[in-house]
Amino acid sequence: MAESTDSTSSAGTVIVTGGAGFIGTAIAGGLADAFSRVIAFDNLHPQIHSSRSRPDTLDPRVELFEADITDPAAWDRLLADVTPEVVVHLAAETGTGQSLEESTRHALVNVVGTTQMLDALNRHKKLPRRIVLTSSRAVYGEGAWVRSNSNGEVFYPGQRTLAQLERGEWDFAQAEPTAMRAGTVFPAPVSVYGATKLTQEDILRAWALSYGVEAAVLRLQNVYGPGQSLINPYTGIMSLFCRLAKEGASIPLYEDGEVRRDFIIIDDVARAVLAATLSAEVNPEAIDIGSGEVQTIATAASIIADYYGAPEPHVTGQFRNGDVRHAWADVTVAKKVLGWEPRVSLRDGIRALAEWIDAEQAAGR
Ligand SMILES: NC(=O)c1ccc[n+]([C@@H]2O[C@H](COP(=O)([O-])OP(=O)(O)OC[C@H]3O[C@@H](n4cnc5c(N)ncnc54)[C@H](O)[C@@H]3O)[C@@H](O)[C@H]2O)c1
Repeated sequence: MAESTDSTSSAGTVIVTGGAGFIGTAIAGGLADAFSRVIAFDNLHPQIHSSRSRPDTLDPRVELFEADITDPAAWDRLLADVTPEVVVHLAAETGTGQSLEESTRHALVNVVGTTQMLDALNRHKKLPRRIVLTSSRAVYGEGAWVRSNSNGEVFYPGQRTLAQLERGEWDFAQAEPTAMRAGTVFPAPVSVYGATKLTQEDILRAWALSYGVEAAVLRLQNVYGPGQSLINPYTGIMSLFCRLAKEGASIPLYEDGEVRRDFIIIDDVARAVLAATLSAEVNPEAIDIGSGEVQTIATAASIIADYYGAPEPHVTGQFRNGDVRHAWADVTVAKKVLGWEPRVSLRDGIRALAEWIDAEQAAGR
């Protein structure tokens, strides 16, 4: 199937909440090609936008509406003049670790921000044809594991306890994790962030079904690459590793370094979000988006250390509450329903990220 971004352009308006962020700026050009008007609804959150100004990388065709999605009056101002054909809902608090200490802020923006948006669309009788939500792998928590000593019995180990982590019991004994796939693996978040993303999904689905609005939900794995905030200390492990290696430091690895992740480059994610926005139909279930490769953190760190000629990474045994042990996506459904597939390998993606960080630092940014 041809990727859905190939479809013809629409005369309508698209509102992109969080449209000035990492993913928002990456999809801006594609949306501006496809829609006659693109509005980024973004409060230029200081944790991501240090200068609180419009990012240079945001396509000039995009109008920036600077406001907070939790503010009903802001939605009223916007929707007084605008009738969206599609809404792409990206705005969120995104720090997994941070969400444990700032759960109210995460719930307010991710959950109430979503309901304020839906109530406003309803209040103004401006129901869009489609709402696209970028959800997260975090909704799965530890996901489903298979016991090694049985006939493939699947079980949900749930959250690792503090005592387990303090003992260095990183994995679940005699069991292997499985790929994350909606409809097969049940969501079971182990972080406040993950719980708010799952709630977003549930609220959107219930609301959209009731009003006949299409809902497209993508569950993204770890997104990295050029354009990711370099000042946000709570997200972006790959850019953090690059900065350390560039300074000549050995990258510290949490747990035993064998944590498995699915790092997907921003370009591949942007194509997936555009495909979900422009596809002829939506999938009733969430769609998992990953790189198609599963890697350990140690491997990713070694590739980065190699690139910069830094010393080998070292294992610290530290851990972070709310981190899951392993996570990667089964992208079969994405290939089938979106005609999308990942294109960039981890090594090529890391090179692109490192070259971008070098250029940003050389330019004093
Ligand atoms: N980047 C990833 O690895 C990843 C993985 C899975 C899911 N996601 C999801 O994708 C979405 C976008 O992520 P991103 O990486 O582009 O994040 P980002 O932090 O770069 O961008 C988020 C944008 O939302 C804006 N924003 C935050 N709070 C807001 C509010 N209250 N009102 C208006 N705007 C607000 C910020 O200013 C920022 O521009 C999020 O919903 C996130 O949960 C991201």
